[in-house]
Amino acid sequence: MVKANGEEPKTLTIDIGGTGLKMEVIGPQAEPLGERFKVATPHPATTTAVLTALEGMIRQQPAFDRVSVGFPGVVVDGVTRTAPNLDPSWRGFNLAKALSDMTGKPVRVCNDADVQGFGDIEGRGVEMVLTFGTGVGAAVYVDGKLVPNLELGHAPFKDGKTYEDYLRDSELKRIGAKKWRKRVHNVVDQLEPIWNYRVLYLGGGNARLLHQDELPSNVHICSNSAGLTGGLALWERR
Ligand code: BGC
Repeated sequence: MVKANGEEPKTLTIDIGGTGLKMEVIGPQAEPLGERFKVATPHPATTTAVLTALEGMIRQQPAFDRVSVGFPGVVVDGVTRTAPNLDPSWRGFNLAKALSDMTGKPVRVCNDADVQGFGDIEGRGVEMVLTFGTGVGAAVYVDGKLVPNLELGHAPFKDGKTYEDYLRDSELKRIGAKKWRKRVHNVVDQLEPIWNYRVLYLGGGNARLLHQDELPSNVHICSNSAGLTGGLALWERR
């Protein structure tokens, strides 16, 4: 999209997380046009509390033309359906409309792992993403096309525990990085023959604790900044 005056649009990208709210204005090549802002997610993380916090942050941003949001739950047509690590008030909440009313700009909202993946993938074959943070996110793409809202984190993995129960941040803190890494390796070993991905990307804040040399060559550790830069794709790949 090029604006009527020939300028490329500036995108405000927002990453809503269970622990932090992040945002940044970026240009067409995902180059930062301002500072990256982060504040702690309010608790309880109700729709009102989170929107109030976002409003305060948005006021401090440079000019932007549109808004992309990564949200930690299922999102359909801008409406949030689940938010396991936020608050029940997000069930059936029209987040795209609320932010569009607040900013006066068009808004697109997608699951946070889906957004993160857009910042990482090459757009060839089956590419899969897992994100490790407060919760466990998952995304899958075929030739760059997203299969939205893959909620693998809540599927059973072992002994009645889900992938999220096994790998979430609170579990990492409980068992320590060494045992947690071993758990990630177990999950990767299980997923590979099921999904037969060309590449698996491991992102989210805790992916930095993984060691690239301990992982198969088609598994890549990614920078968490894709959670923001991936927001550009919400305007390109639909
Ligand atoms: C949610 C996912 C989200 C993930 C990471 C999970 O609890 O169900 O939708 O992507 O956390 O935030």
